[in-house]
Amino acid sequence: MADTMQGLKRTGYCASFGTGDIGKEVVAAGWTQKMRDLGNLIFIDLRDRTGILQLAFDDSTSREVFEKASAVRAEFVLMAKGVIRKRESVNKDIPTGEIELFVTDLRILSKAATPPFEITDQTNVKDELRLKYRYLDLRRSEMQRTILMRHKIAKIARDYYDENGFVEIETPMLIKSTPEGARDYLVPSRVQPGKFYALPQSPQQYKQLLMLSGFDRYMQIARCFRDEDLRADRQPEFTQIDLEMSFVDEDDVMTVNEGFMKTVFQKVLGVEVKTPFLRMPYAEAMNRFGSDKPDTRFGLELTDLSDLLSGCEFKVFAGALQAGGSVRAINVKGGAEKLSRKEIDKLTDFVKTYRAKGLAFTRFTADGASSSFEKFLAPEKVAAIHNRMGAEAGDVLLVVADGKNQVVYDSLGALRCHLADKLGLVDKNRFDFLWVTDFPLFEYSEEEDRYVAKHHPFTAPNPEDLEKMESDPANARARAYDMVLNGCEVGGGSIRINDPDMQQRMFKALGFTEESAYKRFGYLIDAFKFGAPPHGGMAYGLDRLVMLMLGKDSIRDVIAFPKVQTATELMTMCPSEVDQKSLDELCIRTVLPQKE
Ligand code: AMO
Ligand code: AMP
Repeated sequence: MADTMQGLKRTGYCASFGTGDIGKEVVAAGWTQKMRDLGNLIFIDLRDRTGILQLAFDDSTSREVFEKASAVRAEFVLMAKGVIRKRESVNKDIPTGEIELFVTDLRILSKAATPPFEITDQTNVKDELRLKYRYLDLRRSEMQRTILMRHKIAKIARDYYDENGFVEIETPMLIKSTPEGARDYLVPSRVQPGKFYALPQSPQQYKQLLMLSGFDRYMQIARCFRDEDLRADRQPEFTQIDLEMSFVDEDDVMTVNEGFMKTVFQKVLGVEVKTPFLRMPYAEAMNRFGSDKPDTRFGLELTDLSDLLSGCEFKVFAGALQAGGSVRAINVKGGAEKLSRKEIDKLTDFVKTYRAKGLAFTRFTADGASSSFEKFLAPEKVAAIHNRMGAEAGDVLLVVADGKNQVVYDSLGALRCHLADKLGLVDKNRFDFLWVTDFPLFEYSEEEDRYVAKHHPFTAPNPEDLEKMESDPANARARAYDMVLNGCEVGGGSIRINDPDMQQRMFKALGFTEESAYKRFGYLIDAFKFGAPPHGGMAYGLDRLVMLMLGKDSIRDVIAFPKVQTATELMTMCPSEVDQKSLDELCIRTVLPQKE
């Protein structure tokens, strides 16, 4: 039988005690980090979420307490009463290193089996094991710090938006499925067999309706669900700091949110963020960085060589241009030393994962230039390329040509980040913010063979591009903006459509008939007939924000119970099969695909 706490009450957290408490009688509680039995002396490192307190036992300790202490093992849960005293040997590594608790009453509140891994920060334990025993993993001080920081960031968000007139309103979790965007998670209805709810991909429609209701400024820390492939910065369920504002334009939304970044970085990291942020149109971001979320902490910008090379002798380039694509390049300044032929071959494999068909190069070494493509080009073209790229001895030029511009952007955009990482060009202490603006309104979906909304169907078109909605949809711009931090999209939003006729026009441009739009979004179309203020907003990925602020590589590291690649949660092993009775109640029969 374990001991009880009876008669004892914790008087403080482990790391709350200090030299000011010397001589005081206190009660501490926590887990056993380490136990050292030196025969006539026992030391126990007691751990809680604040840190470590050393418990001490010696020959003046009562026999009963001493014997109990000698039975303590790692991760036992203890409560100890005693007197704080000065330590004989000071430990400079921990805040409580000058004191210890000389124990007079010890309770073993819970024993612990030997944990599958040691609870320390220097861990090289496999992720799978950490996630299977996540409750143990979360005991590690680094995880504790992360989760506590996450709490702090969310708290600052609530306070900041509250101070700026935003009202937190909960929106439903069981909603109508309107597949437009990612795939929905569906929830079957028992009382209406054959019908389904969807879990929200975001509170988008409800927050807009709240603007119609007159709440003026809304915010919510909202859980969102998207059935999409997992990546380091994507989980099937994640959290948004979601907000919406009435009677605003882009500047208003951006200013409030720059203020939030300033506040949260100041309060959490003591970092002064400079505002206003740089604003960069989407087209410029793509042309310079090959990405709509450019990492601006380093150079390696893209250069367009297309105009120099149309009709050139090299078929790979000429063909790409003829097909309506482009030829673009990066100059890796002084890269020749680090990028051998073999390394360049590896980079070629890298860009191929982004659908590029190859990577042409010129390497300028002391012995002159070696190139995979220059021999196919007239000397004046080669000279023009070198000139435009500012090529000098020691540089490496890397070129991608493709009939699809997007392939050139994707491959070079990824290559520049990969190279920056590899060559150590990224200053990890920098926080580079910018807004990417003027996104395209539509995006062509090869899968659906139609234009789909790039952001969502409620985003307002740029007033200058209204005609293009029908005549040139590929080049119509939206009043949408993303907040980008160090090459990651931390947030995104837009000014919305508040005119029912414009909303109809948008649905039509997306290929809906009036009837099919009404069937899906009828309640919204109706709502906008009853007085809709101009409004706009945005949502942050809270997980991404915490990840970037704490310098983590994956949002998995900042979520208490995350899912892995297969969307499984390894501790409970969900998703899992359910019993037949539950399926029968829901009138559901599963038909699994035939194994080949
Ligand atoms: P959007 O789809 O751009 O916009 O999402 C907003 C932000 O949420 C984060 N995010 C994710 N984080 C983790 N895992 C995911 N699977 C995931 N998907 C998105 C990103 C992104 O910037 N309703 C609109 C916002 C608006 O218009 O107001 C929306 O959801 O950081
Ligand atoms: P080849 O004549 O096919 O041997 O190609 C000559 C060089 O051009 C090689 O270095 C190829 O890797 C490169 N190359 C091939 N396709 C492309 C492409 N689409 N973009 C850039 N370089 C390419």
